[in-house]
Amino acid sequence: MLTGAGISAESGVPTFRGDEGLWKRHRPEKLATPEAFRRNPRLVWEWYRYRQALVEKTRPNDAHRALARLEEGREGFLLVTQNIDGHHERAGSRKVVELHGNLFRARCDECGERRSMRGETASTTIPRCARGHEMRPDVVWFGEALPVPALEEAWKGATQSDLFLVIGTSAQVHPAASLPLAAKESGSRVVEVNTAETVLTDVADLVLRGRAAKIVPLIARVEKGA
Ligand code: OAD
Repeated sequence: MLTGAGISAESGVPTFRGDEGLWKRHRPEKLATPEAFRRNPRLVWEWYRYRQALVEKTRPNDAHRALARLEEGREGFLLVTQNIDGHHERAGSRKVVELHGNLFRARCDECGERRSMRGETASTTIPRCARGHEMRPDVVWFGEALPVPALEEAWKGATQSDLFLVIGTSAQVHPAASLPLAAKESGSRVVEVNTAETVLTDVADLVLRGRAAKIVPLIARVEKGA
C-alpha cells in the first residue's frame, strides 16, 4: 500500500499539487533542496518549523485509523507512505515505511545522529547534534536519493503483494510512484482511492473515486467482515 498527501488532506494538512497545494505557494527549489539548505539553513528550518506547526494542529483522520485496523492480524501488511507528518504512526499503524522521512526529526549529516523535534516548533535556532554540528530536517529533498533500506523494503512489499492500495497520491514523484506499477507487474491487483484522476487511474484494476476518510473505513469494514 502507498499513501500520499491526500490521505492527510481531511486532517487539514495541505497537499502539494492542488490549487491550494504547498508547491503553488512556495518554490520547492528555494526550500526543499540541499542547495537551499547550504545557502540559507535558517530559512529552510523556518519553513520546516512552519510545517511542523501546521501539522501539530492536526490529528489523524478516519482513513489513518482504518489502515491501522486493517493491519491487525495481517502478517504481510506493509504501509509505505510519502507523507512526513507522522499521522500513520499516531493512528496506530505499526509497519510503516516513511519513504520521504519525518517532519519531526532532525539529522546530522556529519555524524548521523537523529533527534526528535517534537515540541520544538517555536524554536528559532538551527538544531545542533551532540558534537555541535548543524542538523538538517530528516526528510528527502528534491535531487536526493531515497534511503536505500526504506526503498528496498517498499519494493519488496510491492512486488510480493497480492493487493496494492494507492491512496491520495498524484503519483508524479518517483521512485514512490513506481511502486504500484511494480506491484501490478508482479501480479498484484491495484486499487486507487483518490478524489481525482491520476496517471495511475488507467493502470488500476479498481478506482474508488472519493475522499479517503470516507472510502478507506469502508474498505476496512468489508475486509474485517464487520
Ligand atoms: P500531491 O499533492 O501531488 O497529490 C495529492 C493527491 O491526493 C492528489 O492526487 C489529489 O487528487 C488527492 N487527494 C486530495 N484530497 C484527497 C482526499 N480527501 N482523499 C483522497 N485523495 C485526495 O501529493 P503526493 O502525491 O503525496 O515529496 O506528493 C508526492 C511528493 O511530492 C511528496 O511526498 C513530496 C512532494 O514534493 C517530497 O517532498 C520529497
